[in-house]
Amino acid sequence: MPPTRTIEVLPTPEGLFHAAANNFVNVGTAAIAARGRFTVALAGGSTPKGMYSLLAQKHARFNWRQTYIFFSDERHVPPDHPDSNYRMANETLLSKVPIPVSNVFRIPAELEAVPAANRYVQKLEAFFDLSPDTVPRFDLILLGLGPDGHTTSLFPGSRALKDASMVFANWVDKFKSYRITFTYPVLNRAAEVMFLVSGPDKAEILREVLKPSPPVNYPAQGVQPSNGRLLWIVDQAAAKML
Ligand code: 6PG
Repeated sequence: MPPTRTIEVLPTPEGLFHAAANNFVNVGTAAIAARGRFTVALAGGSTPKGMYSLLAQKHARFNWRQTYIFFSDERHVPPDHPDSNYRMANETLLSKVPIPVSNVFRIPAELEAVPAANRYVQKLEAFFDLSPDTVPRFDLILLGLGPDGHTTSLFPGSRALKDASMVFANWVDKFKSYRITFTYPVLNRAAEVMFLVSGPDKAEILREVLKPSPPVNYPAQGVQPSNGRLLWIVDQAAAKML
């Protein structure tokens, strides 16, 4: 049964950031009320920067003490590297809100790729108190969309697409480097997945990805939460071919 899919089109990138930040706060507030904590995995790349900055500016009083931050993927670089998704999130959000350091679970991408993935799995297993062969259910997972239809670090033709574990050290040919990424089992277990897509260069791929799947022609189409909500928050420029 495909998940319920909602597509919100906002007139501008700023409108997208506001809608995404508001949804983050709404989902988080409900999760904390229901279960005493909010578990969320942040997206990397550039699109989420505006949303993260807005969360820091407008929602410093959000219940960050009960919020637990993970990452959907990470480049294979140290945390202070310009390409690091952790560095981006820390600069735009985490360093600006009162979230305990112990509530942030970084992917240790300074390690060799496979040990980094294994260490991140250990963090997930400990935090979620996972029994063998179970997968964590995040309250919210944020994702972006690449022009080739990739999401997180699930790139077309890469081995992670077929991996049934939780985290995979994925060799990405186009970058000649590893990425450490969640795989479909984690993404599709989430209570809610929120894609953020902005700009005219995403218009064609967004139209393609939003076509009914199967067939799954692009990795982003494989994100189909089995018991959760699928939300696309896009701006008008990205939606112009819909
Ligand atoms: C990353 C992300 C990646 C990103 C898309 C879109 O580490 O870069 O996991 O999947 O979300 O490439 O990136 P932009 O938001 O920069 O367009």
